[in-house]
Amino acid sequence: MKIDDIKKICVVGAGNMGHQIATLCALNGFQTSCTDIDQTTLDKAAAFADHYLPGRVAKGKLTEQAAKETRERLTFTPNLAEAAEGADYVIEAAVEVLEIKRRIFADLDDMTPAHAVLATNSSAIVSSKIADATGRPDKVVNLHFFNPALVMKLVEVVQGPHVSQETADLSMALCEKLGKAPVRLNKEVNGFLLNRIFFAIIKEAEWLLEMGVASVEDIDKACVFGAGHPMGPFRLMDLTGIDLAYTMGMEAFRNSGDRSDLPVPSLVKHFVNGEYGQKTGQGWYDYKE
Ligand SMILES: NC(=O)c1ccc[n+]([C@@H]2O[C@H](COP(=O)([O-])OP(=O)(O)OC[C@H]3O[C@@H](n4cnc5c(N)ncnc54)[C@H](O)[C@@H]3O)[C@@H](O)[C@H]2O)c1
Repeated sequence: MKIDDIKKICVVGAGNMGHQIATLCALNGFQTSCTDIDQTTLDKAAAFADHYLPGRVAKGKLTEQAAKETRERLTFTPNLAEAAEGADYVIEAAVEVLEIKRRIFADLDDMTPAHAVLATNSSAIVSSKIADATGRPDKVVNLHFFNPALVMKLVEVVQGPHVSQETADLSMALCEKLGKAPVRLNKEVNGFLLNRIFFAIIKEAEWLLEMGVASVEDIDKACVFGAGHPMGPFRLMDLTGIDLAYTMGMEAFRNSGDRSDLPVPSLVKHFVNGEYGQKTGQGWYDYKE
């Protein structure tokens, strides 16, 4: 399959990442169907598009006609089979649970045309752990967007040993067509590329906090004003989700067996309290106001 053969994209999961990836695909000319098991999340995703597109028009970034056509290309449905029907490329952005992803991919394998590429946006699960749930492992690949997906240019395309050259090349080309700056990882590695670098920074920030060296606010301030980061590590975790930081820490520990990879006690406390960051109104910072 060539890049111009991709007409329809299916996005599975309409949460934090999925709703923006779906809007991005529609904006760039693809017929896009977005699905989620939760109707409230789907309604929120549709409301986001209804608000975001006119906002782009108001800012002079999009014509009214383009906004109208983008919205017409974007559909939302709770029915996976309906969303997957006729899709040339699928981007799965459902919850970060291996067994759920494997089930989704097995279903997608039955529901999509044989030529379709099935990509996962997972932050921590390499696609070789999912590929054998399908009959097309050569077409199962990691396509890792960053949050917020409409804004962040980087996408990591991870070419595990099972991924064909055609799938990797097509995925790179798709990212470029979406206006992104894709990078290719030639092998699977825990945490992929940028998160490995971030992980080292976040780990150090967490231990500085844990040791009582400085406050959340001051550690963030140091990274912003000293290192020029757009936001500090704690603010970033609140944006991407403390649940995700917890899951990634546990996954890193499972892979390495190194106890220093485990989430620090203060992060675990936020996690067990359901304080996941911006999306729950409380994380390292309070967002209830
Ligand atoms: N949040 C981030 O910053 C970020 C960045 C890059 C990648 N990711 C990855 O993207 C994926 C989604 O993360 P998120 O932050 O959007 O999570 P989220 O919790 O905001 O959204 C996940 C959505 O998946 C839905 N879902 C659960 N089971 C489903 C199923 N069987 N079929 C369809 N939908 C289902 C949920 O209802 C929920 O709306 C994860 O794999 C995560 O690792 C997240």
